[in-house]
Amino acid sequence: MTRVLSGIQPTGQPQLGNYLGALRSWIALQDSADAFYCVVDLHALTVPGDAAELRSATMTMATLLLAAGLDPDRCTLFVQSHVPAHTQVAWLLECTASFGEMRRMTQWKDKSAKGGEEAARLGLLAYPALMAADIVLYDADRVPVGDDQRQHLELTRTLAERFNHRYGQTFKVPDALIPARGQGGRVMDLQEPTRKMSKSSDSPQGTVFLFDDPKDIERKIKRAVTDADDGPDAVRYDPAAKPGVSNLLDILATITGRTPDQVAAGYTRYGPLKADTASAVVELLAPIQARYRELASDPASVAKVLRAGAERANEVAAATAARAEAAIGLLPPG
Ligand code: TYM
Repeated sequence: MTRVLSGIQPTGQPQLGNYLGALRSWIALQDSADAFYCVVDLHALTVPGDAAELRSATMTMATLLLAAGLDPDRCTLFVQSHVPAHTQVAWLLECTASFGEMRRMTQWKDKSAKGGEEAARLGLLAYPALMAADIVLYDADRVPVGDDQRQHLELTRTLAERFNHRYGQTFKVPDALIPARGQGGRVMDLQEPTRKMSKSSDSPQGTVFLFDDPKDIERKIKRAVTDADDGPDAVRYDPAAKPGVSNLLDILATITGRTPDQVAAGYTRYGPLKADTASAVVELLAPIQARYRELASDPASVAKVLRAGAERANEVAAATAARAEAAIGLLPPG
């Protein structure tokens, strides 16, 4: 059976791009694959944050994943830091990667540019090695992610291949599983449609958060930036020339299981497209939010799911870590 693994950071507020680009695939894959999904709390340490907030955000994210449709009987859901092999193998991969290739990662360049490279955490630079460890530990065949993770997945493949070449066949080399164009792999900010929608963005009006109430969702989508062209073919899918409209078409197409061109054929004006997109998003999120409220009232049950998940994840990951340590020449204990 195909093995899949993916992760999501608990920082910031989960947003529509996370759902359409990744979680939707995670949920679908539970039936066809042996699926491992984790809340990657260690990754959250790469940027400044508050300890109590991290604890509660990790729990919130795990609860939300269950509310969105992850089923602990059909997948393994766990918290990354509950499985020590992630940090163990991250070190082996840090010693496989080079400083130069880590420095070339877009995410490092973007995030370190904000506060300056001098102040950026070393963990932020090393982050892709930890992400690679998350993946190779589970012998994952496929990794369902949004388009923004493409570069990290390529690096994961490079590191796995290099390790295998240096120390002998140890890791499976995984493939990224990214939604096709127009199918939610790259949901853009509603106010700045050339920038991706992001949990940590400073554009709350351009971001639909999964916990937003219907009124906020409607307001944000109705105010989404489009363009002044209101000719007869104003509503068409053309991400380069019409990024705002194309983003709405992409969102509505993904939710309703059509292509953006099919959706575009039904509209001549922006208003009705926005109204229908807003209703589709509200309808998508309402049951998730209701289920979240139920689950959040019983944190002990969520904790139990995470304990069981960590146990199963540990079994798989510890065996891979032992294999990798032996391959690289670490003396086995006792
Ligand atoms: P994170 O937490 O930023 O995002 C979680 C998932 O959501 C996708 N995503 C999007 N997809 C479409 N449009 C968007 N605007 C959008 N924003 C986010 C991301 O591509 C991702 O799939 N490095 C990862 C977490 C990670 C991971 C892993 C993923 C750590 N270890 C191992 C896969 C496998 C991240 O920061 O995702």
